[in-house]
Amino acid sequence: MDEEGREEEASATFLAAKERSAKTEEKIDKSPSSFKMITGDRPTGRLHLGHFFGSLKTRVELQNKGLKCAIVIADYQVITDRDTTAHIEDNVLEMVIDYMACGIDPEKTMIFTHSYIPSLNQLMLPFMSLVSEAELARNPTVHAEMLASNHSLTALLLTYPVHQSCDILFYSADGIPTVVPVGKDNLPHIQIARTIAKRFNSRFSSDRPTFSAPVALLSEAPEIPGLDGRKMSKSYKNSIMLCATEEETKDLIKKSPSDSERKITFDPVLRPQISALLTTAALTTGRSEKEIAEDIGEGGAGALKSFVSESVNEFLAPIREKRRELEKDKEGVREILRAGNEKAEKIAARTLQKVREAMEMVYY
Ligand code: TRP
Repeated sequence: MDEEGREEEASATFLAAKERSAKTEEKIDKSPSSFKMITGDRPTGRLHLGHFFGSLKTRVELQNKGLKCAIVIADYQVITDRDTTAHIEDNVLEMVIDYMACGIDPEKTMIFTHSYIPSLNQLMLPFMSLVSEAELARNPTVHAEMLASNHSLTALLLTYPVHQSCDILFYSADGIPTVVPVGKDNLPHIQIARTIAKRFNSRFSSDRPTFSAPVALLSEAPEIPGLDGRKMSKSYKNSIMLCATEEETKDLIKKSPSDSERKITFDPVLRPQISALLTTAALTTGRSEKEIAEDIGEGGAGALKSFVSESVNEFLAPIREKRRELEKDKEGVREILRAGNEKAEKIAARTLQKVREAMEMVYY
């Protein structure tokens, strides 16, 4: 397929996914307990305000609506595009802390690391037979990640959408439909999980489907820009970390680039830096960017920055307070992870047994 054909296909897929997402959201509102949610993160560092508004908030809402929920800390995904697992133990434990500080309740949401779930990982073998190399090679996100990593394409990076399908499908074999809240960049992976579910069913269990096809929930949440107007990313040092102190937060905001025009206006195209500050204030206060800009008026970037610091620190205060409490009990955090992992392995073992049965590989 040529470049143009590919783009057309991708945008048709996106529109279809968007429609499916909206319809599913309506159904969830009518009957939340007939759905399950699974989603995850790579433990490559601490979570920031972008994660909070982009995904954590939705997860907590779905959890509190009564869906059965699971979050995978995708530790094997860390080595898809980097050579080292330095600090991974710390990153994993701190991630559990960040989740809980934001309102994830381990009684309601199973938190697990995929490296501890052997039955989940074993699904990789039959699943690999269901996708072609060409299908994997044209995944735009894999391609973008390879370019960004400055690495050659490892076999793990090429096949990680299949591994992510294992993360999702081990949880999708009990007939209850699974939703996966993700950003647009993860959509191609959810598409592969859907393809694998359908192909497995038609190849091995056409009379009684083993897997239900997961549905991506594409959030409407505006992407919160980094303080410099670019995408919020750890490597740009433009992110407000949930774990930062009030002083660190204030400093970071103070040092963020702005312009010298005194009148504050919201104009993401012409004034991306000022607008990023306004969006940060808007999300953390629940007010609109325009209204805040009008309030600051001729006060200039200094007044805007003070307002942003105050809003962010006030918003994050309860989360940081909870973080500090959890930090004191690292053993407790490990226990939560152990319990989540044990539960996940039980579910994965059940799914793997169903897969064996469907493939007629039960020998005793
Ligand atoms: N690839 C996802 C990310 O980079 C993380 C992830 C791993 C995930 N397994 C998942 C997301 C399963 C949703 C479902 O953000």
